Amino acid sequence: MSDTALPVVSANAAFTAPNGPLIATGDLHIHVGGAEPLSQPRASFCRCGASAKKPFCDGTHRTSGFVDAGEAVPAASIAELTETGPVTFTPAPNGPLLAAGPLTVQNAAKQTIATTTRAAFCRCGASANKPYCDGAHKAAAFEG
Ligand code: FES
Repeated sequence: MSDTALPVVSANAAFTAPNGPLIATGDLHIHVGGAEPLSQPRASFCRCGASAKKPFCDGTHRTSGFVDAGEAVPAASIAELTETGPVTFTPAPNGPLLAAGPLTVQNAAKQTIATTTRAAFCRCGASANKPYCDGAHKAAAFEG
């Protein structure tokens, strides 16, 4: 293991693809408006705000001009998660992608930047704190 390869501490993980989506793997439950959440092992969530298939990526980031290398730095300390089980993703109307459940968050280099049981990820592309939401969707008048 190299100095920068930190251990994955949750079966569920999400990493930021450079200039592209948030890619999640694990036991995912995704609420997209139906009565039951989608249960799947992998999903690509739009981070650029331009997908026609929100909350999922449809590849539009390649032509939308979205730029984020996914170079978020690891938190000063990363706790080991004791929780197990699924992580749910719910897109807040015109706002962030809300995650609830044990999750390891990684940057584009697959370095663990945080572990969490609750997070709000930017979906509009305008946050200055990517991959997390900083409220910029309001000024950006994000719809989706
Ligand atoms: S990140 Fe792929 S369409 Fe938005």
